Formats: sequence, C-alpha cells, structure tokens
Amino acid sequence: MVARIIPVEPFDLVIFGGTGDLARRKILPGLFRRLADGQMPWEARLIGAARSDVDDDGYRAMVLESLEEFLPSSALKPRIVEQFLSMLSFVQIDATGDDGWPELKEKMRDDVVHAFYFSVAPSLFGPIAERLKERGIADGQARIVVEKPFGHDLDSARALNESLAAHFDEAQIYRIDHYLGKETVQNLMAVRFGNMLFEPLWNSQYVDHIQITVAETVGVGGRGEYYDGIGAMRDMVQNHLLQLVCLIAMEPPSRYDHDAVRDEKLKVIRALEPMEPDDIVRGQYSAGSGGPSYLEDVGDPRSRTECFLAMRLSVSNWRWAGTPFYIRTGKRLKARASEIAIVFKDAPHSIFDVPRGRHSNILSIRLQPNEGMQLGVTIKEPGPGGMRLIDVPLDMTFAEALGEEHSAIPDAYERLIMDVIRGNQTLFMRGDEVEAAWAWTDPVIAGWEARGHIPSPYDQGSSGPDDALMLLHRDGRRWREIRP
Ligand code: BG6
Repeated sequence: MVARIIPVEPFDLVIFGGTGDLARRKILPGLFRRLADGQMPWEARLIGAARSDVDDDGYRAMVLESLEEFLPSSALKPRIVEQFLSMLSFVQIDATGDDGWPELKEKMRDDVVHAFYFSVAPSLFGPIAERLKERGIADGQARIVVEKPFGHDLDSARALNESLAAHFDEAQIYRIDHYLGKETVQNLMAVRFGNMLFEPLWNSQYVDHIQITVAETVGVGGRGEYYDGIGAMRDMVQNHLLQLVCLIAMEPPSRYDHDAVRDEKLKVIRALEPMEPDDIVRGQYSAGSGGPSYLEDVGDPRSRTECFLAMRLSVSNWRWAGTPFYIRTGKRLKARASEIAIVFKDAPHSIFDVPRGRHSNILSIRLQPNEGMQLGVTIKEPGPGGMRLIDVPLDMTFAEALGEEHSAIPDAYERLIMDVIRGNQTLFMRGDEVEAAWAWTDPVIAGWEARGHIPSPYDQGSSGPDDALMLLHRDGRRWREIRP
C-alpha cells in the first residue's frame, strides 16, 4: 500500500510559545517529519515567538537540540535538517505589551497562508488575538490554532470564545484536541461510514454496551501542581474521551465536512444524560513500587483531585437509549493502552448446546499502541469432535497491514497542523461543542465539590479502584483487560 502525500501550499506559521515544551516536543519535530515526507513545501517559513531573549541562530540551535532529542537519529538526514533550520526564525515578543509586534509584521510574507499557533497559557489567547488583528498582522484569511485546556469551566470557555470571536471568525479558529488527529480515531469514521457492514447494527438494538479505555502508565510527576488544579475530568474526559463518545454515537453526517460532522457531534453531547453519583468512580494512585503516591506527586496530602475516572454514560436518543457507554481513564495503570470496544448483543437464540452469553461479537478499535482493529467472531473449532465453538479475531493491525508505510503515519499534531494549512476544520472543535462539553461537565464537578467527595485509592500498576470494576459488575458486565 502506498501512502499518497499531498503537499500543502506555502505558508508562514508563527508559533507563540515557540520555545515551550509542546513546540519542542511535538510541533517542531512533527513539522520536520512533514518536510522530510515532502508534504511541507520548502518555501514554508516557521517563526518562533516568545519572551526568551534569543536570536535566529540561537533559536535554530535550540530547535536542532529538540529534533535530536525527540526524533530517531536515522530520521535526521543532514540535507533536510539544514533545510528545516533555514526555514526558522525567531521574534522576541511581549504578548501583552508592544514589543516585537512590528518585527513580526515585517517577517510575514504576502500571498502565502498565514497561521498562528497559540501554544501559550489561555490567559494570553485574547491579548495575542487582539494584537494580531489590530496591528494588521492577521487578515480575514489567517488561521489561529489554540491548544487545550480551552477553559476550566463553561464560563471561562465562553470568555475565551468571546475574546477570540472579537477578532476572528469561527471559520478561522482551530481548537486542537489531539485525539481527533490520531489515525485510528479517524478510522472510526471510515469504518462506520465507509462500510455497509456496521452501520445497520450500530444502535441499541444490536449493541449491548460500549467501553472506552484510555490508560496511561505515567503519573503526574513533573506537572503535579498544574494537574492537581485540573484532574482527569477536565484533563481527559471533557475533551478527549467525550470526542470519542461523539464519534461512536453520532448520526451519519450528510458529508465529511467540518460543519456537518461537528453538528452531529454537538447533538451527541447535548443528548448526554446528567450524571448520577453512583455512575462515577474517582481514584488516586497510592504509593507503590512504581513510585510516590498521587498525593506525594502533587505535594498536597489533602488533595481531592482525581487522576482516575470511570463513568457510565447514557446517550438519550432513539439510537442509543438503553446502551450504556462505560468510559475510564487514569494515570499509573497497568499498561499504556487505549481502546474502544463495541460489544454486540448475544445471538437471540443458540441452536448449539452453548449457554447464552458465552460468545459475543466485539469490535475493538485500538488507538495506541499497535493501532488497529479486531472483530471477534465465533466459529467452529477446527477438527473432529462435534460442533464446538471458539471465538477468533479477524485482525487488522495497521503495522502488519501497511508494512513500512505504517512508520510514515503522521502523528496527531503534524496531521492537524497540515489540516490547518489546508483550511480543513473537520478535526477541530467548534466553539459551541466545547461549551456544550463544559455544560455537561460542570455540574458533575460541582457535585463532587459540594459533597466533599474523596477519590478512592488504587494500586499503581492495577486497573484502577475496585469500585470501577463494580460499575460494570452490577450491570452483569465486565471491563476488558488493559493490555499493552
Ligand atoms: C493530554 C493530557 O491532553 O493527553 C495528558 O493533558 C495526557 O495528561 C495526554 O497524558 C495523553 O495523550 P496521548 O496522546 O499520550 O494519549
């Protein structure tokens, strides 16, 4: 299978926060890969903008270090590295003051796409947007890219939306949720809407329940203080996991087009039932062989912030009434493994001498690692001995199916940045979607705060607190294994 690379047009990309962690770890190495693959044209220009006192050469040296740190040395072909560094420059800028803006304006070329990546604290979104517009640096065609967290509740998200809307049209604003850029997440739409096979069964008549697991082995170590003010609900569920729920639950959009897709996702968020306390389990990892406890990591023995969440969601509409969506995510769990499982109902009657519930079809969509899909089907066990049934997977592991091409699959950030340059907003969140997600999230968090809810402890390297297992057991179901 040959991956087709469609080059994007020449662009000037300004990265505010160009010396920060995200730029060094993800944005710049990702862009380097797009250049090496021939997708980013040699005429593109990348302009780092930050408070740091560095010149162009100093910035190039810093970026070279990041490439060496975050890319394998085999990827760093000298000719491409030299070309990439020559595309870089730097402006020292004061996001809330006057310094640096004339120099930035000077650097922007006419007749190329202009994109501005806000890899900065949300409190700077408004001031930067204002300066870009008022100083004539960004025109009506320019695109701005904003990172999560997009607010910490409905009010703050509204305020951010308003501060951006004061200067830019919604069609110019690209709110990143990097989960939407993951290969398998997009494949969810391809599988659902590119095949006849699944869609007729994709409803509560045939689907028993859905499980979504995003498990991590890392703790909150290096970012403890920041994380403790946020927790898993705001960090992972309000955005990444809800987006996955939307892609699974949404109605077929009429076209694969930004507003058609986002309209359908929005309807799903609005159809989510308010949560009942019994349908939520919160946890914090204890100290263990893996390292310090969550409370030690965040330096607050009384913290009530969760770093694990399991929830039973109900999507109240004709398609999904009665089919629960169980979601869970957590730090320091037994493996780094993210998976969506669509668990189909049992056949209504078994003609074989097998108790019901023994065999069910499961479509599992593996986000990471080993991206791929498996469909569990029941067949006759080969050989003599009568009609004995076994479950076997129809397996499509992308690494095997795509061979070498697989290593060329762009990572989420690089794919999304190329979409920004193309002007394709389908995989970005619209302002109303983000607000609807906060409107559903806020009362849940307020409930915990009002009740002084204390998260349950769980062992590092486990599957989370025992209560999370009960969440399914009481419904006669069980979680799938978290497997690396
Ligand atoms: C980020 C969260 O958005 O996603 C992190 O802030 C989390 O806490 C990360 O670790 C997980 O992303 P990925 O792509 O590694 O699954």
